[in-house]
Amino acid sequence: MMAHQATLIPGDGIGPEVAEATVRVMEAVGVEIEWERVQAGIHALAEQGQLIPDDVFASLAATHVGLKGPTATPIAGGHQSINVALRKKLGLYVNFRPVRMLPGLKTRFHDVPINLLIFRENTEDLYSGLEHEVVPGVVESLKIITRNASTRIARAAFEYARREGRAKVTAIHKANIMKLSDGLFLKCCREMAAQYAEIQYTELIVDNACMQLVMRPETFDVLVLPNLYGDIISDLAAGLVGGLGIVPGANLGDETAIFEAVHGTAPDIAGKGLANPTALMQSGVLMLAHLGEREAAARLQKAIIQVYMEARHLTGDVGGKSSTAEFTDAVIRAL
Ligand code: NAI
Repeated sequence: MMAHQATLIPGDGIGPEVAEATVRVMEAVGVEIEWERVQAGIHALAEQGQLIPDDVFASLAATHVGLKGPTATPIAGGHQSINVALRKKLGLYVNFRPVRMLPGLKTRFHDVPINLLIFRENTEDLYSGLEHEVVPGVVESLKIITRNASTRIARAAFEYARREGRAKVTAIHKANIMKLSDGLFLKCCREMAAQYAEIQYTELIVDNACMQLVMRPETFDVLVLPNLYGDIISDLAAGLVGGLGIVPGANLGDETAIFEAVHGTAPDIAGKGLANPTALMQSGVLMLAHLGEREAAARLQKAIIQVYMEARHLTGDVGGKSSTAEFTDAVIRAL
């Protein structure tokens, strides 16, 4: 069988640690992947003079599949977010984040059957980076919502729900206040819902959605959101199932897919071998499925669950004492 080609972007902070751990388990699962390693982020800026060097785009244009560690974005001022740039340039308009309780993991909600899927619009909204100073002391940030982008994220959510037999799609908004922008987003979701009569469609205002997610997380199924609410709700949902160390993600376009965790570079624990690689490993599970390696994906997922059930080799963020490498070794043994 021919090896798959994939691009590996280790990233900054804990990125290289969790990326290496993920490559190890993906090798152990027995699927042949030829990784093309390229740098983006602070490392790339220091060594190649560019945050996203041209070879990153060249590699992804050839492989169409990437696994990416988190990259650092300075707060206020400085350069544009690498993720935002990658997502826009490669047309990765869907940010998909499955939030599921890992059997065995003890969290505040461990006896609640949480299994929700987030479809976050990935290219516009307040992430357009269109900010300017009107006059000294007054700034303006533009929230861009288009019919095109809203329709394609809604379609992605409903298509997935239909394919995977999910019962309900909920659109999250603040159209009571942002009548035009969130109003257009909702309109596009409603139009799409009309084409999927077998799937229940509901709407929730974002603040109410936050409360409902904490009080009744098990009632949520597929969520579709504009970019900013999707960002915030993703972290909230991650908190329900054990934190940022757990939740995987995928940035999907029509031609390219990049798999990455929800979490950032975790500067507080970077370089110490303490990071939990579960989130990127589970992103690897999504990547294997995307490559058509469904059996291997299921095996890797099962091995991760087994390590959580045994609870002897977990990292500090989920109540264990093990290092990144010890957890990774345990997953490989479980395989
Ligand atoms: P963060 O996700 O890096 O960290 C938040 C907290 O969660 C920290 O206490 C951290 O130690 C912990 N944490 C995160 N991932 C963990 C893991 N795998 N194992 C154990 N603990 C983990 O968020 P923060 O601090 O807001 O952002 C730091 C940097 O990361 C910023 O420069 C930000 O722009 C960038 N970032 C990058 C993302 C990406 O490239 N996809 C996503 C989010 C943030």
